Amino acid sequence: MRPSTIAIDGPAASGKSTIGFHLARHLGYLYLDTGVLYRAATWAAQAQGVDISDEASVTSLVRGLAIDVVPPTIADGRQCTVRVDGIDVSWEIRSPRVESAVSPVSAYPGVRESLTQRMREIARNGRVVMVGRDIGTVVIPDADLKLYVTASPEERASRRHLELQASGKSVTYAQVLAGIRERDHIDSHRKAAPLRPAQDAVLVDTTALSMEAMFCEVEKLVNGCSEHQQHQGAYA
Ligand code: DC
Repeated sequence: MRPSTIAIDGPAASGKSTIGFHLARHLGYLYLDTGVLYRAATWAAQAQGVDISDEASVTSLVRGLAIDVVPPTIADGRQCTVRVDGIDVSWEIRSPRVESAVSPVSAYPGVRESLTQRMREIARNGRVVMVGRDIGTVVIPDADLKLYVTASPEERASRRHLELQASGKSVTYAQVLAGIRERDHIDSHRKAAPLRPAQDAVLVDTTALSMEAMFCEVEKLVNGCSEHQQHQGAYA
C-alpha cells in the first residue's frame, strides 16, 4: 500500500524540499515545508521589533500569529504562498536577515510547541508530504514513510551559493559554507527536537546524485515502501 503520510527530514540545502515538492506533486498530496513556519515566525518577530534573544516575547508573539501556508497564488517560482496575519511574506522569509535569526527562534521550546501543533493538525488528514528537521522524530513519529535526506556540507554550500548568485545576492562560497555549518550545529545541538534521523528512517545521501537520480531513488522507495523498510532501509 502507498504511504499516506511521508516525513522528510535533513539539514539545510540537502535536497529535501526539492524531493518533497516533487513527490507531493507526483502523488497528488499536500506539500508542507515546515521550515516556512519557523521563518514566518522569525519574520514577524523582526517586523514587530521584538528582540530575538527575548524568548518569552518571541514565544508569546508566535502563539498569537495567524500563519497560512497555501499552494502558490503567484507563479513566480515559489513552492507555496506564506501569509502572516494576511500579509504575503513568501519571499521575505528567504532573506538573509530572516535566515540569520531563524535557528535561535526555532530552538525555543514554546515556539516549537505552538508550530508543531499546527503541523499535526495539517497531517491529521493524511495524503501529505511534510518536510523539516523533526517530522519523523517528533511531529508525526507514526508517519508511513520516513526519509532522512543528507549531503556533505561542501555540496550543500555549493548548491545554496549557486541559488543565491542566481538571485543576484553577492556572497562568497566561504560565507555560505560557514553559515551552513553554523546552522547545522545549532539545529542538531539544541535541546528541543534536535535534528537527527528517526530510528526507522531511510537514509538518502544526495551528495553525488543528479536531480533525476534523486527522484528515481525516492519514487522507488515510495512504491516499494513497506518492502524496502523491512529488508534494507532502516537507518540506525
Ligand atoms: O528548512 P529551512 O532552512 O527553511 O528551516 C529554517 C529553520 O527552521 C532552520 O533553522 C531549522 C528550523 N526548522 C526546525 O527546527 N524544525 C522544522 N521542522 C523545520 C525547520
